[in-house]
Amino acid sequence: MALDEIVAKERIWILSAAEVGAKPNYGQLSAMETYARKNNATVGIIPIVGQHWDAKLHDDFIKYDIIASNYKLNKSIYVRHQNIRSQQINPLTGLRSLGQTTHSFIVGSPKQQLEHVPNSPKKYPKAIMSTGACTLPNYMNNRIGLIAQDYHTQGGIIVKLFDDDTFIFRHFVCSKDGSFQDYDTSYKPDGKTTKERVDTLVVADLHYNMVSSDALAGTIKQIHDLKPKHIVLHDVFDGASVNHHERHKVVSRSKCDVPLLHSELVELHFGLNQLLQECPKDTKIYIVKSNHDEFLDRYLEDGEFVKDYPNAKLGFELAQYMSQGYCPLQKGLELVRGKLDKRIKFLERDDDFRRFGYVLSMHGDKGPRGTRGNMIGFGYSVGKGFVGHDHSAAIFRDMYRVGTLSDLNPSYTKGSPSNWTHTNGSISNQGKPQLLPIIGTRYS
Ligand SMILES: [Fe+2]
Ligand SMILES: [Fe+2]
Repeated sequence: MALDEIVAKERIWILSAAEVGAKPNYGQLSAMETYARKNNATVGIIPIVGQHWDAKLHDDFIKYDIIASNYKLNKSIYVRHQNIRSQQINPLTGLRSLGQTTHSFIVGSPKQQLEHVPNSPKKYPKAIMSTGACTLPNYMNNRIGLIAQDYHTQGGIIVKLFDDDTFIFRHFVCSKDGSFQDYDTSYKPDGKTTKERVDTLVVADLHYNMVSSDALAGTIKQIHDLKPKHIVLHDVFDGASVNHHERHKVVSRSKCDVPLLHSELVELHFGLNQLLQECPKDTKIYIVKSNHDEFLDRYLEDGEFVKDYPNAKLGFELAQYMSQGYCPLQKGLELVRGKLDKRIKFLERDDDFRRFGYVLSMHGDKGPRGTRGNMIGFGYSVGKGFVGHDHSAAIFRDMYRVGTLSDLNPSYTKGSPSNWTHTNGSISNQGKPQLLPIIGTRYS
């Protein structure tokens, strides 16, 4: 039966790209079969062109479902056959405009990339992504070939279809022997699986006073399942009470419930303690210095609190602590509800916190040499890392960007299409990265 005729019957796919003329990565394929067996999933192989257009796909791929043309997984996501050559350095180049349709899509490539395209002021953005490969590197010994080899990723994408419209996807990256971790389980080439806690969970921008209850609940479930040893938090403080962008918008502020600084800090103190209580006893939480935290620094630095009568008393106290070199956010939290647990650590802008080589202490708003942060700049400067700030999940080479846990359609983005997503990220005990989307109440 042709694949086009069996659209959307499978509930879970595990997909990867195979270059024609290249050798299969047998360890990876066996681990993918292990996944398929344990999860009742289908292995789908997307053939891609490499050095020679007329080369053949290796015979050993025959036993899998070969997806060699456009193929709908459900009404919302499809595999797009784009004839991307294996050595193309950026497989999503030129495809962004295609995302502005009604579908998310996946293309086959040995590189893993992900972007979210704003499509509608109301609907979830469209995800466009490339897979990673299940064939071994097979590049020419020239400039393009050698660069392409550097970004070759043994891996793929798992797509879970919940119904005709809803899906969740996760990229996975393989270890040398082909094994990989998806969510809380490691899949091995020998057919075995093991439950694994992760080393690190990078939580999407928290913005606690405007957090989505579904996204927060999904994150707590992920903490229970993944039992991270380290949790990294971005933009924990929303700063609505001291936001300089909104300060002079008298009508807008009167229409919505702008919190007092004191109550915003009390709420955040509660939220951080709540998160800590959901963690294993040995988990450490790191709060990355972020631009929304610095709303408070700026509010104090500019002396705005002097005219802001409801917040003035706390403002005076914090300004004094700031002048003595204390972090205003940390001190503010202490002043309103007492010291936070020692397992919660506040990072400074110039701290360099890494796990398995991934830089985790950059928020993502500031790029190299003081430029505005962007994935390409991070890619060539720090190389490997996880950032937040943009609120839209992305993968660019070894750089990963988490989304936000806040409401996806706050008042200040109303009327324009948004690409914000609820997406956390993890690093496994083998040092492999994975983004973890939360779609509505689905978190795994
Ligand atoms: Fe943010
Ligand atoms: Fe931010």
